[in-house]
Amino acid sequence: MKDTLGREISYLRISLTDLCNLRCVYCMPPEGAKKLAHQDILSLEEVEEIAREAVALGVRKIRLTGGEPLVRRGMLSLCQALGRLPALEELTLTTNGLLLPQMAAELKAAGVDRVNISLDTLDPQKYARITRGGRLEEALAGIRAAKEAGLTPVKINCVLIGGFNDDEIPALAALTEAEPVEVRFIELMPIGHTTGFGPEAYLPCEAVLERLPQLQPVPASGGVAERFRLPGAAGAVGLIRPLSHCFCDRCDRIRLTADGYLKPCLHSREEIPLRGLHGADLRQRLAETILQKPERHGELSFRERSQSARDMNQIGG
Ligand code: 5AD
Ligand code: SF4
Repeated sequence: MKDTLGREISYLRISLTDLCNLRCVYCMPPEGAKKLAHQDILSLEEVEEIAREAVALGVRKIRLTGGEPLVRRGMLSLCQALGRLPALEELTLTTNGLLLPQMAAELKAAGVDRVNISLDTLDPQKYARITRGGRLEEALAGIRAAKEAGLTPVKINCVLIGGFNDDEIPALAALTEAEPVEVRFIELMPIGHTTGFGPEAYLPCEAVLERLPQLQPVPASGGVAERFRLPGAAGAVGLIRPLSHCFCDRCDRIRLTADGYLKPCLHSREEIPLRGLHGADLRQRLAETILQKPERHGELSFRERSQSARDMNQIGG
């Protein structure tokens, strides 16, 4: 369905858990996520019911996120249930990839179409630093497993951080040369636990175009990324620029948190409780939330922080 500004809301992002097997510095507090009580988390049946009503209202694409969605017990059976919704056109995941070697084939069989995998650096020491202890090798094995299982095209999410990985822009973009992957550079967003970053960390994605002037624009595949290609490359380079190029006018999404709130906008404080609602009441609350979607978020910059009351691990990007 359309919101009051005529935007077609066709995309639901569902956070299955706040927990994660990594603790990226731009996403989580150093001590890790606060574990919510079991009864405060939506059951997978509740998630399925909400997803079904959202699809009845016109949602055509669902992405499961976290925290890390693959650490949520039972998530494969949820994927199977969602994969069976006839009107759903696309079921995807955003994951750090660590569990994909064990799970990729089952995810594909359950109906997951493709995955986005987080990878901010190709240097093992920097990977350990940004994820607070993760092993690069495991993430790379996860990317390979996704490709082998046919969870393709694989997209690689790379948060661009000035002074941390801007020196790796060419190496990260070069991953697209031989294979049809999409490497997406994402501007660091000032949300939740990003208070430790100085102004230089908030590097605009323009830096990618300056560093790689040979990038040629190619038509967008829908969504919020602008797409480019290195000459002769098999894959694409995407830029996601929430700070320097606001894309609210094209926003097509709503978000469900693991504890049962609907967020009409990533950067707004507003959250609509869905728990306890069923059938027509649930559908009506979903429709009201879509209609109330804000026109755009406030300015975002080093100084102007997101209005969201949550950390990224509690929203799922
Ligand atoms: N700014 C930009 N992207 C972020 N992500 C997490 N925190 C931030 C942030 N502060 C992205 C990661 C990951 C996805 C789950 O969200 O790249 O791929
Ligand atoms: Fe986990 Fe992803 Fe957050 Fe990193 S960015 S801590 S991998 S949820």
